[in-house]
Amino acid sequence: MAVLTNDEITKIRTSVDIVDIIGEYIPLTKKGRNFFGICPFHEENTPSMSVSKEKQIYKCFGCGASGNVITFVMSYEKMSFPEAIYKLATKAGIAIKDKISLKGPDNRYESLFNIYNISTKYYQNNINTTKGTHGKNYLLTRQLTDDIINEFQIGLALDKKDQLTTLLLKKGFTPKELITSGLTNQNHDKLNDVFINRIMFPLWDINGRVVGYSGRYYFDQDIAKYINTKETPIFKKGLLLYNYHRALPVARQTNTIIIVEGFMDVIRCYSIGIKNVVALMGTSITKEQAFLIKKMASKVILCFDGDEAGARATLSGGNELLKYQITPLVIRLEEEFDPDDYITTKGETKFRKKLDNPLSLLDFKFAYYRLNKDFSNSDDITKYINEVLEALVDIQDDIKQELILSKLSDEFKISLPTLKEQLLKSPNKPKESPLEVPMVTKRKGIDKYLKAEKRLLYYMLKSAEVTRLFTINGVYLPTNEARLLANEIIYYIKHEGVINSADFITYLNDKSDLIKLVGEVVMQPLKEEYSLEEINDYIKVINDYNIQKEIDRLMNLINQEVDIDKKVAYAEALRQLKVKE
Ligand code: CTP
Ligand code: MN
Repeated sequence: MAVLTNDEITKIRTSVDIVDIIGEYIPLTKKGRNFFGICPFHEENTPSMSVSKEKQIYKCFGCGASGNVITFVMSYEKMSFPEAIYKLATKAGIAIKDKISLKGPDNRYESLFNIYNISTKYYQNNINTTKGTHGKNYLLTRQLTDDIINEFQIGLALDKKDQLTTLLLKKGFTPKELITSGLTNQNHDKLNDVFINRIMFPLWDINGRVVGYSGRYYFDQDIAKYINTKETPIFKKGLLLYNYHRALPVARQTNTIIIVEGFMDVIRCYSIGIKNVVALMGTSITKEQAFLIKKMASKVILCFDGDEAGARATLSGGNELLKYQITPLVIRLEEEFDPDDYITTKGETKFRKKLDNPLSLLDFKFAYYRLNKDFSNSDDITKYINEVLEALVDIQDDIKQELILSKLSDEFKISLPTLKEQLLKSPNKPKESPLEVPMVTKRKGIDKYLKAEKRLLYYMLKSAEVTRLFTINGVYLPTNEARLLANEIIYYIKHEGVINSADFITYLNDKSDLIKLVGEVVMQPLKEEYSLEEINDYIKVINDYNIQKEIDRLMNLINQEVDIDKKVAYAEALRQLKVKE
């Protein structure tokens, strides 16, 4: 990383805007001088991540996460520093490819990516050989064209036990690398391919690199239909959405993303020109996937399989997304179809018509709760009403709530006030959780020095002059962390001449506790200008506190000391201190 100078890093940092970049990951709303969003670094429902445009810093008042645009990309994308810099530079249109070294520990998974690259080509090639005729025919009967097979890089694992493994060993990969990749199994001394006789569907990470496979067996019904690559350092199923990288631009453009269960559904939609589709691949929605979805578009459509399992997945997936302020729409297909079957049997036009008429999640829930209930049975009615009320709790829209309540009231002849009362009792009722107040001290008096400390640091982070005053006065900050931070600031200014908190964060590198503190300090709602008087005031508060502490200590010693000479010495020290006070 030494190849990029500090100035170059600063140039990259300042040529992007933290509000734009973070805004690509999480929706931000302007409130006063800052922007707020749901913090991606801890679970929460109300936004406590604050992003400052002027300071180019973010800070979460919930979990304390803090930093500049580079650290945000690093934490969010789980990237190394050079990777994040590279990503930001690319966004800013700054060419650094030759200057930056992505080798060494930062590119520790390069061999895994290479293995996947080579194996994908190998599997793809198999399809067009004589041995691959079977597989090819299978794909053709499933109405996949050559174009689609190529686009989705679909390939074939043949019937030999170790063909891929042998090829990769010949290319120089070690057995250990092959086993780590999840493509090779070790059985005693023998190394064998994990995938044999399967149609190979590559799975891509969010950047479009192949990181795993789903292998579909296509001869026999009796063995597992799909085998997926096991979790590896580069493949975590819950962190990706099938087809994310291809769907992203189209989803952004149309502000709509369609979520399906299986990758065959994605491929089928794509083949009829519906390209803003991603698949969960049989897992329930994780937090990371919810965030990916949120990045893609604000209109989210769940189009799961038509069976009961699909309905249940719609319900739980819908509720999961609600937690992240995503209110999805819902498409339901007839019992026997998944989107793939629906399109191939009923046709494109009918599918598009479905897409154009989604249900709201709420209406879906109501219909779902009605299923298999007998409304001549009062238990079923009670159950239904309670389910509806529970769903209503999530609705912010008062008019809608009222409307649904009065419909319920009409249908089941229950008075509106009774329903409303019951709604208030609903166990789901969200607690009013006010935005957490930024750390302004609550216990006045006692914490006066803490406040002074943070304010002093605030101006030290803005001005070399204040830092110079700090040094000249020999200020000793009582809090450990604050003192460490002050030392770093002094060192930084000595070398750089000036200070800017966003660049200072880059310099702090992996000292995450100090970075957190910088966030706390910088996000104080203080004015930009300072007067020397004010600064001297803070210094005085801190000095007074230190003196008081020393006085307390000496008093204690005097009280406990038996040796008279020592007692006198302490008393003299105390007298001198009191003069200073
Ligand atoms: N899945 C899986 N392992 C299985 C079954 C399913 O990983 N044993 C995942 C696959 O990613 C699949 C998705 O769950 O795409 C949906 O499963 P399913 O509906 O059974 O598959 P389809 O997409 O309908 O596949 P096909 O049409 O080939 O049967
Ligand atoms: Mn299917």
